[in-house]
Amino acid sequence: MNGAMEMFWRKLGKIAASCWIVGTLAVGLAGSAWGIDENFLVIAHRGASGYRPEHTLAAYQWAIDKGADFIEPDLVSTKDGYLICRHEMNIEGTTDVEEKFPDRYRETELDGVPVKRWYAYDFTLAEIKTLRAKERLENRSHAYDGLYEIPTLQEVCELVKKVKEKTGRTIGIYPETKSPTAHKELGLDFEDELLEILAGYGYVDASAPVFIQSFETDNLKYLATKTKIRLVQLMSSAEDMKVERLKEFKTYVYGIGPYTKMVLPTNEKGDTLLSPTSLVEDAHNLGLKVHVWTLRVDGPNNEYRDVAAFKKDPKEMFRAFIAAGVDGYFTDFPDLGAEVKGEYVIGKTAGKNGGSGCTASSLGALLFVPIFAGACIFRKR
Ligand code: G3P
Ligand code: CA
Repeated sequence: MNGAMEMFWRKLGKIAASCWIVGTLAVGLAGSAWGIDENFLVIAHRGASGYRPEHTLAAYQWAIDKGADFIEPDLVSTKDGYLICRHEMNIEGTTDVEEKFPDRYRETELDGVPVKRWYAYDFTLAEIKTLRAKERLENRSHAYDGLYEIPTLQEVCELVKKVKEKTGRTIGIYPETKSPTAHKELGLDFEDELLEILAGYGYVDASAPVFIQSFETDNLKYLATKTKIRLVQLMSSAEDMKVERLKEFKTYVYGIGPYTKMVLPTNEKGDTLLSPTSLVEDAHNLGLKVHVWTLRVDGPNNEYRDVAAFKKDPKEMFRAFIAAGVDGYFTDFPDLGAEVKGEYVIGKTAGKNGGSGCTASSLGALLFVPIFAGACIFRKR
């Protein structure tokens, strides 16, 4: 090659490199306006509970396979102090306990009417392990009822560990301590046990892919004195949305978990969006992350209740919460949550509504790599 040709390749290489840098910067800047980064979280609510009985390894695995970043085990204690994944302390609605242990109930009252309840704290783990999960909602598939065991927290940790070994993917866990005061009254408070189990898997500080959440405050305040694992305050009242309350939360948690309508309220019928609240902005101003719950795309009698205000389009609902600026969403439908996240995440292949399926930075790389390679080959000669 002569000197002119060498100059040509060098110039082309420099131009391509500049294009790549400018393209990447442009995408980054555009991203801050309409995109989200990869830290945005798709949290599989009780696993992929829209598709499999909630809180089963099958529900968690399904969610992982479909792109969830975190899986959410709600936790209650057994009689012998094991942490199992259930949404309530009473388990007759989501297991076959009534058939397997017909006499092991307690009588209580619901709206003045006597009802029978079977409580996890009346059963040992060995007994719990004889049960099988069932779908709680009538409008969801019952094809998997009777198939799956009730998992322990430890089994959930094992599941994500195996996924990591097999695929390299880090799946986070987002345990919720259910009814901490009631557990405490029974002498079954489990905050220390929870931390011990997590520590057994190396989850000890803020870098761990773990968030511990609760609706109650005392247990979170206690946990804040015992661990650096990130904590999240779930919110249940309008009072919690006040800036003064948020400031208080900030003293012991990393983020907040508001109900969907605390971010995007609707009219009473639920079919029209009202103006967004200032909650996300207020929280962010204080340095609190916001993980909203719970995005569901179904409802009784196929009413698609929660989607009504979003043009009855499930994906529009997910998009609206991303546009509202939340940092993650809990959803029973993590496949949809992950798909919509994919439309917005910068630096990843965009989905059908996020562009051509090839980002500007990857286009830049496509141009840059062969030209740069050509220049290198030339230099070697
Ligand atoms: O933990 C977030 C969300 O799950 C709170 O609702 O009742 O489903 O635990 P719940
Ligand atoms: Ca929960």
